[in-house]
Amino acid sequence: MKERLEKILEEELGMVITLERPLKEHGDYASNVAFSLAKKEKKSPREIAEKLEKRVRSELFSKVEAKDGFLNFFLSEKALKEELLTVINEREDYKRGGEGGVMVIDYSSPNIAKPFGIGHLRSTIIGQSLYNIYSFLGWSVTGINHLGDWGTQYGKLLYQIKKENKDPEELSVKELEDLYVRFHKDMENDPRLEEKGREWFLKLEKGEEEARRLWQICKRKSLEEFEKIYEELEVSIDHTLGESFYEDKLQDIIEEARKKGVAKESEGALIVEFKDLPPAMLLKSDGSTTYFTRDLAAVKYRLERFSPDKMVYEVGADQVLHLKQLFEAAEKLGLANKENFFHVAHGMFRLKEGKLSTRRGRTVHLEDVLSRIKEKARETVKDSPSLEGLSPDKKERVISKIAVGAVKYNDLKRHYKRSVVFDWDEMLSLKGDSGPYLQYTCVRCKSVLKKGGEYDKAIDEEFNERERELVKMIVAFREIVEAAGNNFSPNIIAEYTHKLAKEFNSFYDEYKISGNDKRMAITEGVLVIIMQCLSLLTISVPEKM
Ligand code: ARG
Repeated sequence: MKERLEKILEEELGMVITLERPLKEHGDYASNVAFSLAKKEKKSPREIAEKLEKRVRSELFSKVEAKDGFLNFFLSEKALKEELLTVINEREDYKRGGEGGVMVIDYSSPNIAKPFGIGHLRSTIIGQSLYNIYSFLGWSVTGINHLGDWGTQYGKLLYQIKKENKDPEELSVKELEDLYVRFHKDMENDPRLEEKGREWFLKLEKGEEEARRLWQICKRKSLEEFEKIYEELEVSIDHTLGESFYEDKLQDIIEEARKKGVAKESEGALIVEFKDLPPAMLLKSDGSTTYFTRDLAAVKYRLERFSPDKMVYEVGADQVLHLKQLFEAAEKLGLANKENFFHVAHGMFRLKEGKLSTRRGRTVHLEDVLSRIKEKARETVKDSPSLEGLSPDKKERVISKIAVGAVKYNDLKRHYKRSVVFDWDEMLSLKGDSGPYLQYTCVRCKSVLKKGGEYDKAIDEEFNERERELVKMIVAFREIVEAAGNNFSPNIIAEYTHKLAKEFNSFYDEYKISGNDKRMAITEGVLVIIMQCLSLLTISVPEKM
């Protein structure tokens, strides 16, 4: 709606007009163009605004008002009706596209030989949503799973596998993690084990046959498990390029850093120094590379392969320093400007006491969370008459969608900087600010539309106040998605969707919809928009609920 109005105003007034959202009493849109013209024309903004006001003719406004130098625009009934019909006709393509740039987004990025923990859940969910949002806005987006599959910890794991004489092929990912934990337990009594771990990592780095083979098995097993999780979460990441992928690219970046005078020797190590940050390490004193080295090589690789305008990292806030150093170092090397990078530094999960036990004090496994929430979801829909008659298989699919939707929405509704609390009842509440509530609203809209049948789309009746409010919310959709993109904040979409659903549901309680063309159209418009929003949030809607 907004761009269309801007275009019309540009034609009518012969100048570029940018519309903003003012306070409600000042109309639907406003422009402060008179203020910038005032200086040039040496007249008061008030005078200019009054002149401009008279030149606006479009029927899309019911009223244009010059007030204190601002131009305020009020949408006409015609504008709202036309736009509502566009929503209904274009459906999932409504407002899709634009002139975006090129983006690489690094998200999910779990570590192998460890079950997928809820620590990586936020990155996966927010990252996928940002991916969807930017793609929707016309960007060419590439997603990268920067899998943690390299480093001394895998030397420790290999050592322990050998020591316990295990065949990793026979082990679950959980059991692989246990091996790593046991290594550290043993090390408490025997610090020399550290050296053993390093030895085995060296073997791995050198490409020694057995080390490679064992590591490959651990990696494959982990990926198989992660794949299952991604499938259940309906997440799909374009490329999995783990840290090990950069192994043969590390010498290059180290050389480059040396040559350009960005790296310097310090106590046997090679470091990069910064003005306002502690130094980062490219080579440890034993000659091994680091997480930082691999990330720097990844920056170079991504630039060369994808030529992105923006490089986004959806990584927890505990890595703020690491990524600051990375962006700074990339700039020092002349690879990219700091402004080309963005760190979506998400807050952590908090556990409501007693509700989610961390097993043996370790990370909480996503698998456990999902099975727990599914159990709860099963409970919630147990007596739902609409699920009666579904095959057990189909019923399970509904339950999985509800559960996964609940987990995702619980995460996405909060700004990424905030931490996330697991409150099962809140997450599943069919009345509250939850994923299932939004899914339920879609199911309701669908059933209203089905019951109402065909209706006349040439709506001739006028909207009442409530209806007009709903349509106005609907037509703000693109602006909301843009705001979410600009701020890397899917929560803006989540909040909007919840407000729209709430408004619709209270409208539904109050008015009879079937048999009334404009209300049928509004219901269809609401459905299209909520479905759009949910798809941007990677939340799918079950057939029945
Ligand atoms: N695997 C890392 C971890 O679990 C996250 C990687 C994030 N991405 C990156 N390019 N550093 O901590």
